[in-house]
Amino acid sequence: QLPKQVQIKEVGPCDGLQNEKTFIKTSDKVEFINRLSETGLDYIEITSFVHPKWIPQLADAADVLKEIKRKHSITYAALVPNIRGLERAIEAEVDEVSVFMSASEGHNKANINKSVAETFPILKEVVNEALAAGKTVRGYISTVIACPYDGYTQPKQVVRVAEKLFEMGISEVSLGDTIGVGVPTQVDALLSEMLKSFKAEQLAMHFHDTRGTALANVVTSLSRGITKFDSAVGGLGGCPYAKGAAGNVATEDLLYLLHEMGIETGIALEGIQQTALFIEGILGRTLSSKQLAIVRKE
Ligand code: HMG
Ligand code: MG
Repeated sequence: QLPKQVQIKEVGPCDGLQNEKTFIKTSDKVEFINRLSETGLDYIEITSFVHPKWIPQLADAADVLKEIKRKHSITYAALVPNIRGLERAIEAEVDEVSVFMSASEGHNKANINKSVAETFPILKEVVNEALAAGKTVRGYISTVIACPYDGYTQPKQVVRVAEKLFEMGISEVSLGDTIGVGVPTQVDALLSEMLKSFKAEQLAMHFHDTRGTALANVVTSLSRGITKFDSAVGGLGGCPYAKGAAGNVATEDLLYLLHEMGIETGIALEGIQQTALFIEGILGRTLSSKQLAIVRKE
């Protein structure tokens, strides 16, 4: 039986914009997030406190947090790679901290310059300090299906990383098909393994749509009882340290699918579409979502 209600976590302002070549003005990012805040979303990942040399696009993280109009009903989250990032995030009064690492060595090294083993103590310190500061912490595991450097990922590798993150005290783990290679049989195999150790409520799925398989993977995840999905308006996004990684599954395409299946999200499709058109105008290029192609013709 499929879930009746699903939570969508919008990652467009962070995972989406981090990959853009031209710097988006802070005021445009703020307007983008303010518009997202009016759509019924209750969770927006708005930026990251990583090293500005690595991701110059999000170097204005603190200003974005300071300038957005916050709603009490919305959790405004940000990615944090280490203690330095956490200090900046707390200073900017982020609501929730997201730590991140990969299941595979190759991508972990390319993305955060550390081996998987070296990453655990760093994240442990971040989670400890974040919890002490009264923040909730979400964990991301990237390359859960395959890695651009190391090939296929074994589901047991993902379970092992998730166990370590939950031991640290994260409240939920988001499983990232970072390069969008996964197909439903692989997602099913991964979830089958994960659900031996964790409850469905502890898991979120984060699909990139590089090969057009993201929505199929969502349906497979729904049938396994997953009720949390990450997506980005317009299908923005891609990991700068995973060559060829296309955007996240588009929020409006995901909404269309879920709503037509009778699954509630509390989010207005129309508002999301208009916000996608807004950011498309700022970026000055056509975004890839299917719903937008229809809306543009109307
Ligand atoms: P590093 O160079 O190894 O860092 O980078 P370090 O710890 O050796 O520090 C070097 C210098 O950087 C020091 O300064 C630090 O203070 C400074 P110095 O003492 O030399 O003057 N520094 C910082 N400054 C500001 N903010 C910080 C910070 N950290 C160190 N946070 C590091 C290691 C992790 C920082 C770097 O590799 C990095 O920033 N990587 C970011 C990678 C990234 O943002 N990737 C994209 C997000 S992940 C993603 O998108 C996946 C996801 O979508 C899920 C999926 O799809 O799978 C979430
Ligand atoms: Mg991603």
